[in-house]
Amino acid sequence: MTIDEDTDWVQRLQQTLKGKVLTSPENRAAYAYDGTWGEAWPDAVVLAHSTEDVAAVLRIADEERVPVVPRGAASGLSGGSVPERGGIALSLTPMRKIFEISPEDLVAVVQPGVVNLDLQKAAEPYGLFYPPDPASLDISTIGGNIAENAGGPRCLKYGVTSDYVLGLEVVIPGGEVLRLGGRSIKNVTGYDLVHLFVGSEGTLGVVTEAILKLLPRPPARATVSAFFDNLDVAAETVVKVVTSGILPLTTELLDKVSIGVVEDFLHLGLPRNAEAMLLISVDGEPESVKRQAEEVAEICRRQGATGVSLADTPEEEEKLWKARRSVSPALGRLRPHKLGEDIAVPRSKVPDMVRRVQEIGRKWGLVIPVYGHIGDGNLHPTLACDRRDPEEMKRVEGAAEDIFKAAIELGGTLSGEHGIGMLKRDYIPLALPDNVVTRMKAIKQVFDPHGIMNPGKVFPE
Ligand code: LAC
Ligand code: ZN
Repeated sequence: MTIDEDTDWVQRLQQTLKGKVLTSPENRAAYAYDGTWGEAWPDAVVLAHSTEDVAAVLRIADEERVPVVPRGAASGLSGGSVPERGGIALSLTPMRKIFEISPEDLVAVVQPGVVNLDLQKAAEPYGLFYPPDPASLDISTIGGNIAENAGGPRCLKYGVTSDYVLGLEVVIPGGEVLRLGGRSIKNVTGYDLVHLFVGSEGTLGVVTEAILKLLPRPPARATVSAFFDNLDVAAETVVKVVTSGILPLTTELLDKVSIGVVEDFLHLGLPRNAEAMLLISVDGEPESVKRQAEEVAEICRRQGATGVSLADTPEEEEKLWKARRSVSPALGRLRPHKLGEDIAVPRSKVPDMVRRVQEIGRKWGLVIPVYGHIGDGNLHPTLACDRRDPEEMKRVEGAAEDIFKAAIELGGTLSGEHGIGMLKRDYIPLALPDNVVTRMKAIKQVFDPHGIMNPGKVFPE
């Protein structure tokens, strides 16, 4: 569809949403990307300022059968917000009000364009926090976090986005507004449609308001960092820590390549010759944090780790976490492109999975850096590549498929926290039986009978 052939719906949008519709080439280009290599220009961009704006877009788009691709900061890593089939890029970033933080109910009521970090900052004066902490937290929005069911390091202890969504306002194709769930912790009245929308990747409707659960912020936190000369041993160390009776806040892994790219980027003095780095943090009351951090450090030392150190001031910790959050962007500097995977396996299978990734790298003649949330079995094997080289891309695709197959053989899954989007949809048949996919498509049909919501995403073509 091009604008010249089919302008009626654009005119309808412009008349209804005055000043909120962008159609210049430079604006369309700016909304063509997310955090992957995907690129596709929308025909028009709409900046939504209210639920009414979203409802108007979904009414017109449904009548005119135009694709709608919702987006927040577009930092996603599965191509979910790339407007692959043109149509409308629906930006929710102007909707960034935090309506309420309730210390009694322990909830926040927010609009979808609120940046995760801004919610964290708003909760802080109340002594509260919002646990999900994707590495993109200083730019990514709550709407996007909900759409992809985002995770992050703290999910090991506290769970993922879906564990913190109590209620939603969503607009569905046609413009109808649904209010789902509420602000009580318990709610088993009817089907759980709230959690159907969480992680639905913009394929069912658009979240316009969310009621999120908050938790009291534990007073103390500490992070142990440790280096290993063997990746397997680092993986086994994490199993030792989580079976010791401690539930860490985070257990993060960086392999040798990841350590190297972060060091190139931030110059922190990390040992480049180490095969693996673990970042294990604990939170809670000061005495228990101290005791648990010492025990974690001791387990690391017993496993042969070197350079074991303990950061227990916010400044020291922030330095380490900045390093950890830079891994993905820093790996992006290795080669022109990167395919960042997001497999998850049962925790006990992590050492096997790490070995399998190394074998797969050798088989296809590729260096495959691995980092990620090792304690919850969620790893990001990353294929740095050049998409202009067809021979290399054949090997990259072969390796990606082998990684997915290995994860599934070990009882795991394709994506732990980034979603399927366009990047992994062709592999869905590896992970989900046909009869399950059929039921999922039937659910989409209920909410989106004309297939306008983020068409083509999640399911194989
Ligand atoms: C991370 C993102 C890529 O863990 O999920 O850094
Ligand atoms: Zn991650």
